[in-house]
Amino acid sequence: SKPGNQNQKNPNYLQPRASSFKVAVLGAAGGIGQSLALLIKMSPLVSALHLYDIANVKGVAADLSHCNTPSKVLDFTGPAELADSLKDVDVVVIPAGVPRKPGMTRDDLFNINANIVKTLVEAVADHAPEAFIHIISNPVNSTVPIAVEVLKAKGVYDPKKLFGVTTLDVVRANTFVAQKKNLKLIDVDVPVIGGHAGITILPLLSKTRPPVSFTDEEVEQLTVRIQNAGTEVVEAKAGAGSATLSMAYAAARFVESSLRALDGDGDVYECAFVQSELTELPFFASRIKLGRKGVEAVISTDLQNLTDYEAKALEALKPELKASIEKGISFAQKQE
Ligand code: NAD
Ligand code: LMR
Repeated sequence: SKPGNQNQKNPNYLQPRASSFKVAVLGAAGGIGQSLALLIKMSPLVSALHLYDIANVKGVAADLSHCNTPSKVLDFTGPAELADSLKDVDVVVIPAGVPRKPGMTRDDLFNINANIVKTLVEAVADHAPEAFIHIISNPVNSTVPIAVEVLKAKGVYDPKKLFGVTTLDVVRANTFVAQKKNLKLIDVDVPVIGGHAGITILPLLSKTRPPVSFTDEEVEQLTVRIQNAGTEVVEAKAGAGSATLSMAYAAARFVESSLRALDGDGDVYECAFVQSELTELPFFASRIKLGRKGVEAVISTDLQNLTDYEAKALEALKPELKASIEKGISFAQKQE
């Protein structure tokens, strides 16, 4: 019989689950936002998908709403509708902001994106203070600290519920390692720590699971490729933006993991840039365990028994990451 008929007989993936969640995407009409919205629309854990943007979101929502999956799609446009887009949502994903062009660093986006993130997180603080917040907008190393300061100023900061999304670094590391070592992709998992820009992105190849051995040359090559993978895409797109499809894929994975955690699954681990005591820096990306209340544990074992290469790279990334964090904090504090 035709695949379509099969689906009608056994539509398990279309059945709403006992628990279902509301997800808002802020910046939903953008390159990441549209693909991410499509992937979230396919999740059986989602009952409502709220799409917010300052432009073009009506058409995106109309289009997406015709997919016969359980979630309801609602569109919200412009600052006047921002509050409604956040009502009762469990997870807020923020990919709003400008992307890089060739020759730019992520920090070159700071001036525009800092204000966008600040405005949006202020609204989240007012209208969805309990939600998990996933920050995608760059520079993540600074936009997360901005979000923290905004939430603190509003008296609603919960460090367990704020995440800088670094899943794409893990997705890339898994892909590149599997390719290089001819491994089955599905099995490969590489923790990526630090931050989300240049040398602050540190894949811990020695902690790859299942265990793999690398030559020094392979370690150097893979590490540099993972650190520059965003730039690889920016250059290939030649002025048309940065990673959107792989980012949407990665962000959808992080949303799904968050929803599984909210649903009570006790075995959910992801890497993310969060408030952390793993190093002397106040925020740091590492593996975390997710639970109903957000971060349940920051996994410290990955930082034990680092190779010399990894230990040196970790020390080398700290000054840059520290400066980016401080830049975000002082921007937010100046605005108060
Ligand atoms: P894009 O330009 O295609 O889309 C951005 C969207 O944000 C647009 O639809 C725009 O209208 C919207 N927007 C702008 N200001 C807004 C506001 N105040 N409120 C709501 N929406 C607003 O860009 P993109 O390719 O989707 O990238 C978005 C951001 O994600 C960039 O900052 C980029 O650097 C970042 N990014 C992060 C990662 C990561 O791994 N964390 C990966 C890729 C891209
Ligand atoms: C990425 O890693 O692809 C994103 O941070 C976008 C960028 O500017 O590289």
